[in-house]
Amino acid sequence: MNQRGNGSLTKIISTINLKGGVGKTQMTVALSEFLAQEHNEKVLLIDLDPQTNATVSLIDETKWLSKDQAGETLLQLFKDKLEKTSKFAINKAIVRKASNVGGGIRNLDLLPSSLGLIEIQDSLPLITAGRFYVTSPVTILKEAISSVLDEYDFVLIDCPPNLGIITLNGIFLSDYYLIPCIPDILSTYGIPQILGRMDNFKRETKIGIEPLGIIISMYRAQSRLLDSVISDLRSKASRGDYPRIFNTLIPLTVRIAEAADVGAQVNTLKQKYGSGRVFEDYQSLTNELLKYV
Ligand SMILES: Nc1ncnc2c1ncn2[C@@H]1O[C@H](COP(=O)(O)OP(=O)(O)O)[C@@H](O)[C@H]1O
Ligand SMILES: [Mg+2]
Repeated sequence: MNQRGNGSLTKIISTINLKGGVGKTQMTVALSEFLAQEHNEKVLLIDLDPQTNATVSLIDETKWLSKDQAGETLLQLFKDKLEKTSKFAINKAIVRKASNVGGGIRNLDLLPSSLGLIEIQDSLPLITAGRFYVTSPVTILKEAISSVLDEYDFVLIDCPPNLGIITLNGIFLSDYYLIPCIPDILSTYGIPQILGRMDNFKRETKIGIEPLGIIISMYRAQSRLLDSVISDLRSKASRGDYPRIFNTLIPLTVRIAEAADVGAQVNTLKQKYGSGRVFEDYQSLTNELLKYV
């Protein structure tokens, strides 16, 4: 873990699942907002997904576009490695006071992604393995953000639904990973694969990453199938085959889907997520996370 200037540690957490549409991004954004706003933690959210969903739910698209054109997104960082340039500047790329809550959350920063990463991601393995690279260039992100790490209590990394080189750049610098998961058979099918591949990567690179747990998202009450999948997950966790399953379940609700609209003017997290269940669920998820790190 990275030592902060004030003596505390920066905790770096990646959110991963090999399946898209399981609520990874929504959960990473909400956790970042709650840690920053409700717990006064200084948070950096790194959006590693070329789909840029986390980015455009925390800043508006025109701002993203101008930053992307100015080389102030993660695209420029990886492009520099391919083109042997050094145009990326971490302090210019980081957006301070991200989110639409109260015109921006003071403690929440964002390192934006770019759609352009889709085009270059296939070329990344061609970057020659230099002195600092293990087998593939997975240290690029770590080198780029090391100078700012000690500003933050938490770094949350929203990963794309794969374990390609861009994702591995996030994993490489993480202390923990979280697996958000819909409790259906198809979505839980990939969990052993994630655990296995993370273990392999850990062995190869000698990093110390640990699973923090599985978080059930898009939970529908009164579904017997979902409940039986959840109890199966819990028994695997209690046998030690799976990491812990968080007690908090994130419900499937339009309230959460609507909250992804950065254009909405809201003053508080309660306004953004509704004053009822969802707000309290995210509160309890955040509290639970703070217990485990
Ligand atoms: N708990 C939820 N209830 C309802 N809709 C959700 C919930 N979580 C996410 N969504 C919506 O579902 C879609 C996929 O979620 P997202 O977080 O982008 O998934 P992923 O990052 O795993 O692809 C988005 O439109 C998002 O707003
Ligand atoms: Mg996503």
